[in-house]
This record gives sequence, C-alpha cells and structure tokens, in this order.
Amino acid sequence: MTKKILILPGDGIGPEVMGEVERIIDWFNKERGLGAETERDLVGGCAYDAHGQAVSDATMAKAQEADAVLLGAVGGPKWDGVPFDVRPEAGLLRLRKDLELFANLRPALCFPALADASSLKRELVEGLDIMIVRELTGGVYFGEPRGIEDLPNGERRGFDTQVYSTHEVQRIGRVAFDLARKRGNRVTSVEKRNVMHSGVFWHEEMVKLHKAEFSDVTLDHMLADNCGMQLVKQPKQFDVIVTDNLFGDMLSDVAAMLTGSLGMLPSASLGGKDANGKAKALYEPVHGSAPDIAGQGLANPLATILSFAMALRYTFDLSADADLLEKAAETVLAEGYRTGDIMQPGMKKVGTKQMGDAVLAALTKL
Ligand code: NAI
Ligand code: MG
Repeated sequence: MTKKILILPGDGIGPEVMGEVERIIDWFNKERGLGAETERDLVGGCAYDAHGQAVSDATMAKAQEADAVLLGAVGGPKWDGVPFDVRPEAGLLRLRKDLELFANLRPALCFPALADASSLKRELVEGLDIMIVRELTGGVYFGEPRGIEDLPNGERRGFDTQVYSTHEVQRIGRVAFDLARKRGNRVTSVEKRNVMHSGVFWHEEMVKLHKAEFSDVTLDHMLADNCGMQLVKQPKQFDVIVTDNLFGDMLSDVAAMLTGSLGMLPSASLGGKDANGKAKALYEPVHGSAPDIAGQGLANPLATILSFAMALRYTFDLSADADLLEKAAETVLAEGYRTGDIMQPGMKKVGTKQMGDAVLAALTKL
C-alpha cells in the first residue's frame, strides 16, 4: 500500500529544511522500499498570499486524506499586519483542530556530541531521553467560559477555565502508557491536585486507567511545579511525562533547553484513530520560520529530519528505519558537522544542504 505524505513547507526556512527531508524520503523509497508518495502544498503566510487563507479547504482535504503531514514552519514579519483569523499561525491551529491532534509528543533527547550545548552540566544530560506527552486540544486554552468583562463596580476581570473530561484524560493517558511500553516503561503524570479540582480529577482518571489497562507500566505522580524543578535538577529520572495543555507547554520548553538547540528538536502531534485504526498525525520541528536566516541556506535541517523519523516510527510503524535515521543524525554530529546554530570550536561549519548531504552519506554507510 502506498503511503501518502502531505508536505507543507510553509514560510521562512521551512522550504529549505523540508527540501532536505524530501531528499531523505527519496532515499528511503529507493533504498528501503518505503513506498511513500509525497505531495507539496501551501500553509501559513505563503498560503495567505496565494488565496487569502492560511490553509485552504482543498489543502485541509488533502491533510485528511494523507497518512502523515510534514510541516516546516509558518509566519514571519511580512504577515504581521494581516487579520487575526487568517494570520499564518491560524493555518497551524486549523490543522491541529480539524485533524483532532490531541497528543503532542515532544522528545527531549540529548545527543552526546551536543551535551556541552545544554543549559546544564554534561553529566546531567548525557544520554538524556525523555518523552513529554502534552494534551493539545483541551484544558485552559480552550475551556469555557473565558473572556474579559466589565464588572458593576467599575473593575474588569479576565478569566479562563481549565476543564477536562474522562475521555480526554483517558485518550492522552493511553498514548503515554503505550509509548512507555516501547521505552523505559515508566509514566510520570503531572498536575496540581494540591490546588486544582481538575488536577484531582486528572490524577484519579490516570490511576483508574493504569489499574484497568496498564498495570505492567510503572506510574508515578508529580506536582507540576516540582516537575519543573526536577527537570532541571535531575532530568534523567524521567521516561514519559504526561500532562495537560498548559503545564505541557511550559515543561516541554524547559526540557527543550536541556538538549541544547532549537534546531535539533522534533515533534509529533497525533489524533484519534479512524474506523481503519489509522491515527491522523502531523510532524514538525519545534522551531519557527527563523526569518533572520531565511533564504540563506544556513538553517539546521535536523529537527525536521528527526520529525520525519518520528513519522517513520509512529505513523508507519517502521522503527528500524526510524532508528537508522536517528543514528544517521547522531553520526553526522559525532563526525563534527555543525550548522551555525550548534557550531562549536573546532567543528566543521556547514549549511542546510551540506548537512543534508552528510545525513544521506551516513545513511548509506550505516
Ligand atoms: P524561531 O524558532 O523562528 O527562531 C528563533 C531563533 O532560533 C532565531 O535566531 C533563528 O534563526 C534560530 N533558529 C530557529 N530554527 C533554526 C534552525 N532550524 N536552524 C538554525 N537556527 C534556527 O522563533 P521566532 O524568531 O520567535 O519566530 C519567528 C517566526 O516563526 C514568527 O513569525 C513566529 O510566529 C513563527 N513561529 C512559528 C512556529 C511554527 O510554525 N510552529 C513556531 C514558533 C514560531
Ligand atoms: Mg510554547
């Protein structure tokens, strides 16, 4: 069966880093029989320029059809003045919402060759391999009621609502426990049940789910503020962290800094399974469109390449191929290849294309 991949390079450095991924997909088609069929389309500012919408209905239909969507990055100063509902980021939000991508997977993996780029000491991060699973479609970013209102006494107030229901906690919990089974078999569920009702509820539902379906996995619990502290103090204690939208937003950014560079961080957003058991999925680097270096061939393509490795693992179930690609990235770093963002003294400075070449050479050698 052919595998359909929709490629949405987006704006800024998006098309540059995605160009390297397309060469890598070709390599997997030729050398490993991947059988992927790719199609390119527009998202973000470039889509707004073309048809006044950050993502068109036609593109959305293709995204619904595809087995996996690979996205580069969207946005840039060119579109600063465009109306809120058609701004480049609106394209990303529509993709997440319409594909019901409720699980955001953010690995924090420290490559040995880059351990000195971490905000922490080498011994704390060398060999680090954490997976943060963030709930992406619920919680306080979406809960009703929300708003800003005038009060009779002349004051104003702003408010948001943190709300989770059983099925929302259960489905994100299942993603986390399933992942843990393929990794270190440990899940840390993070909330603030000491001060939040939704935290008490989250904790209760995780305990129930664990007991009913995943008692072979170790489950522990941590308050979100302590988790932030522990990530910085002793990050290697974690395997899989599962948490809500807000805490996940913050904790995944903290974890990102443990690994060194923004240009190295992949992500996956997974949705529910359809009638054929197929989950929608979108893979993208964590970084943005980097307008400061766009169009110069300087961007680090590794985060986008590693996002494609996640697609091999999670959508196509090809973990040997995913391992191979991750190993190739590790190899080029060990060989000393560095784009500007991860440059260190004595290393070989390369651009986007040469980094892609190095990964392809490593794939062929491995
Ligand atoms: P950014 O991630 O684009 O850039 C931050 C800094 O990191 C810049 O100095 C940039 O040159 C560098 N950088 C980022 N990725 C790199 C790579 N692959 N290789 C080398 N250097 C890299 O974040 P910033 O500057 O806050 O946002 C720029 C634009 O991107 C904005 O319009 C923002 O809205 C958008 N953005 C889009 C995201 C997405 O599409 N998911 C996520 C974050 C920002
Ligand atoms: Mg964030």
